[in-house]
Amino acid sequence: MLRKSLLMALATAALAGLPAPGLAQETVKVGLILPMTGPFTSTGKQIAAAARLYMQEHGATVAGKKIELVLKDDTGNAELTKRLAQELVVSEKVRFLAGFGLTPLALAVAPLATEAKVPQIVMAAGTSIITERSPFVVRTSFTVPQSAVVIADWAVKSNVKKVVTLVSDYAPGHDAEKSFKERFTAAGGQIAAELRVPLQNPDFAPFLQRAADAKPDALYVFVPSGAGAIVMKQFLERGLDKSGIRLIGTGDLTDDDILPGFGDAALGIITAHLYATAHPSPKNKAYVAAFSKANPGMRPNFMSVGGYDGMHLIYEALKKTGGKTDGEALVAAMKGLAWESPRGPIAIDPQTRDIVQNIYIRKVERVNGELHNVEFATFEAVKDPVKAAKK
Ligand code: DHB
Repeated sequence: MLRKSLLMALATAALAGLPAPGLAQETVKVGLILPMTGPFTSTGKQIAAAARLYMQEHGATVAGKKIELVLKDDTGNAELTKRLAQELVVSEKVRFLAGFGLTPLALAVAPLATEAKVPQIVMAAGTSIITERSPFVVRTSFTVPQSAVVIADWAVKSNVKKVVTLVSDYAPGHDAEKSFKERFTAAGGQIAAELRVPLQNPDFAPFLQRAADAKPDALYVFVPSGAGAIVMKQFLERGLDKSGIRLIGTGDLTDDDILPGFGDAALGIITAHLYATAHPSPKNKAYVAAFSKANPGMRPNFMSVGGYDGMHLIYEALKKTGGKTDGEALVAAMKGLAWESPRGPIAIDPQTRDIVQNIYIRKVERVNGELHNVEFATFEAVKDPVKAAKK
């Protein structure tokens, strides 16, 4: 009798989607490691806000498990990222490691993901090689080369013949330089100079002067999210806006988070990227409205969608495994998943575990008085061109 009523109670609770009485609902922890302070704070804030929004919208229970985010601030320091990841795995028993605001931070954790067999969801970092450093890495952000080759094609078609490249001197900058150069020179374009600027405390002024002296048709720039504002300021201070040199780049340059502060000089800058706040789909309009409501004064940028979609990936993988948290089963469940993101249709390439997504060409314009990246051409289902070329 007793047994029967307990079964009934369990069944009723299961139907209602509630935890069974007397049985604690199992919690699945997601360790979210982001730069929440320091020079890359905007990346951390965008991703944390988007991950929380996803959970608000979809509830904290998936496949009978309660999802708990454990947010840690690595300040952008790779040693700290690694130590926090170790603590999260060993002490907190997290079943997912997620976040990773910069390439060195993602690379520092990949060996641990392999050893601990814990999926590492890269929500921000964009160097091509990252997914090859562990079979447990799955990426929901982007690869820098995805955008670099698309803007190179645009430059060729737009009668840009001579370019100076200017990139942050670390792995994604090197990817940005190489992918652009290969694509542009293969079509007959000329690279007049290749300039690399330190990642920390960059002073672009001397490099901008060298760029101006080379008299290119365009200056192609890659800097990480947030740094575009300094480039723009120093570009204007040197009067380069009046030199006839066009400013082009991957969309990291005209990051929607900081673009409103650029001023009219930014009008007409052409970039290629995976996401714009102004992306006109109904899904994105709803996303921007919800994000802005939950985070007054902020608008979602391309980093935010990496966080939002990263949570979707985690939720869908758990649904597919029926709530099982075996790392290999979770990664297997993630391969080939496809869905509609606020950025457009996306998928996880089952071979590379990297993201496949549209890349849009955009122009900075005023929309309702505010500066926006307005998309005007779409390259569909772009795979990471670096890994595609290796095959
Ligand atoms: C990386 C960081 C960024 O902020 C960005 O816009 C692109 C790439 C990175 O470190 O991989």
